[in-house]
Amino acid sequence: MDEKQAITSVFDLVATKYDNPSLRFFPVCADKLIDYAKIKPNQKVLDVATGTGMVAMAAAQCLGNGGRVHAIDLSENMINQAMANLKHAGLDNIDFHVMDAESLEFKSNYFDVITCSYGLFFMPDMSAALKSWLRVLKPGGKLIFTSFAPSSFQPLTEIFMKNLAEYDIVPPTPRWLQLAEEDLCKQILVDNGFEAPQVTQAQLGYHLGQFNHWWEVIQSAGYRGLYELLPQEHRTEFESKHRFEINKLKTEDGIWMDVQTLFSTASKPE
Ligand SMILES: C[S@@+](CC[C@H](N)C(=O)[O-])C[C@H]1O[C@@H](n2cnc3c(N)ncnc32)[C@H](O)[C@@H]1O
Repeated sequence: MDEKQAITSVFDLVATKYDNPSLRFFPVCADKLIDYAKIKPNQKVLDVATGTGMVAMAAAQCLGNGGRVHAIDLSENMINQAMANLKHAGLDNIDFHVMDAESLEFKSNYFDVITCSYGLFFMPDMSAALKSWLRVLKPGGKLIFTSFAPSSFQPLTEIFMKNLAEYDIVPPTPRWLQLAEEDLCKQILVDNGFEAPQVTQAQLGYHLGQFNHWWEVIQSAGYRGLYELLPQEHRTEFESKHRFEINKLKTEDGIWMDVQTLFSTASKPE
């Protein structure tokens, strides 16, 4: 299985669990991202790596009847979940597609705005992705993407990795560190043909009430891929060791989950 298939299979696995209160920073981020994007009625928006469609739906609400959102994801199960969410939202101006963000199938110079929340760092060839997005963006069109800062999910992630290492699983460097600094985000945008990059940050973290809520984060998002590496016979023991370590962080407010987020924007030259 190549890297892209491995990522897709993790998101296929978690799709029905993804929209849960422990991961409530995703919809909060979607609303903030749409504020920063300053989407106007009647525009055409592309939401890349849409997951269960949070950003796509927030964008669709700003567009009115004359505008349209196309939203893509490589995971078929995520797209199915997004379509189920859309039914409840009562919106009719979004089209969902299973598509690879590194090779978009849309025509050139078509979209006014491209959004991508917590998706770009999963792509094995981020430059290929950005070049493909630049092609489909209109001259003067805007890109906005989010990524996590180094403090995000710490020290929770460090403890998770340390506990996995006790079972001879060598955890990789988290993918999001590729876009964890303002300079890295600006540089990759300029290197791939965008102009006027800007980065702003916001803390979207909160206290998780108990260990089980952190466990839900592990089971329902990208961490699941690492957890799946644990042989079945070690999983109960792993959970109880990890519970013990994480509970040491608990205060009267709960367990703090830092979600420091970078919002990067840039434009396609006119
Ligand atoms: C952390 S989720 C974010 C989902 C959504 N944007 C949100 O903020 O709730 C990352 C998403 O990126 C998708 N993804 C990863 N690589 C992709 C690729 N090459 N093309 C399209 N989607 C991809 C995954 O399937 C997953 O749904």
